[in-house]
Amino acid sequence: MNSGIGDKSISRKTTPGTPDGRAVPAAISGVLRCGTCAESVRPLDGGLACEQGHIMRFVGGYLDAASPPRDAQEAQTLRSFGYEWTAFDAIHPEDEEFWRRYFADIDLDELRDRVAIDVGCGKGRYTRFTAGHVKAMVALDGSAAVTSAVGNLRDLPNSLVVKASLNSMPVAPAGFGLVSCLGVLHHLSDPRAGFERVARLLEPGGVLLLYLYSRPAAPGLRAMALASAALLRRCTVRMPHGLLRTMSAALALVLYCTLVVPGHHSERYGLDRLLPLPLRFYRGKPLRSLWLDTFDRLSAPIEHRYVWRELRPWFDSAGLTVESVREESGLFIVARRPAEG
Ligand SMILES: C[S@@+](CC[C@H](N)C(=O)[O-])C[C@H]1O[C@@H](n2cnc3c(N)ncnc32)[C@H](O)[C@@H]1O
Ligand SMILES: [Zn+2]
Repeated sequence: MNSGIGDKSISRKTTPGTPDGRAVPAAISGVLRCGTCAESVRPLDGGLACEQGHIMRFVGGYLDAASPPRDAQEAQTLRSFGYEWTAFDAIHPEDEEFWRRYFADIDLDELRDRVAIDVGCGKGRYTRFTAGHVKAMVALDGSAAVTSAVGNLRDLPNSLVVKASLNSMPVAPAGFGLVSCLGVLHHLSDPRAGFERVARLLEPGGVLLLYLYSRPAAPGLRAMALASAALLRRCTVRMPHGLLRTMSAALALVLYCTLVVPGHHSERYGLDRLLPLPLRFYRGKPLRSLWLDTFDRLSAPIEHRYVWRELRPWFDSAGLTVESVREESGLFIVARRPAEG
């Protein structure tokens, strides 16, 4: 299946209506459950219903299993990301490169016959590329980002977008051969509880790919930069999103001109060791990717950061085998639920 997006960025808005005129992929029907009571569901005109009469409807091309936010913090987080992924709704060619970085430690060949879920999919920028390697793909998010995800995944017949909180996902435990959760858990008020919910989705032999913010174990330049960003965040998380979006553009432009472009050139001329400038990741990438990430870092109400030794017990308690841990200004972790027998 070709999930590439070619040279042109895509930005397709949703159209209202029930499942976009297409059926829910059979492999996904089997893993959907009632978001309220977790029982199995059957099709009902324009939605799905369980024996107890709880109904989840298809709205604007996604399955709506959203429940009211648990608390003000969850509500604020979902509002913030709803704004982010509808304001920055397009998938760009560089997103495929970012996706490769996330999936660098995953054996893509083993995914072919698996049902996958991307928990906290946002606008679906990574879901889209993963969908090309799996049998079927659930893209789940609790925010208005799902409207952008529907537009970005509309042409992929093996995918279904679901709006639901991570706290009440309308899917079967042990239902998935691949679970990705990229940049989500560190925005929750209780990331470990979120991790446990996500880990429960893995079938025996299933693979989990997590990305979490890291923090340096020792003092240094990065620790200082993170401390300054944390100070700035105290004001910016309270700012109106439109204003913050403009401010992030200005800040990203300054960082791009003073650090990214000089770093790119010093690398080209082999001077990188003499002058190791930060933000390497953005070298050779368009300014828009730094703009989005600047907005993302300054807007999300909650931000946790980890060193690997703090996370290790999470995986042990969940009975997962850790296959790789890569730190590149964030932790990319691959783990597996051991196969039965
Ligand atoms: C930083 S974004 C990452 C999006 C996507 N994984 C990516 O990397 O492009 C975090 C996403 O998690 C979602 N999210 C945060 N808290 C959630 C919750 N409690 N339930 C469901 N989704 C949640 C947000 O709506 C947001 O789209
Ligand atoms: Zn029910």
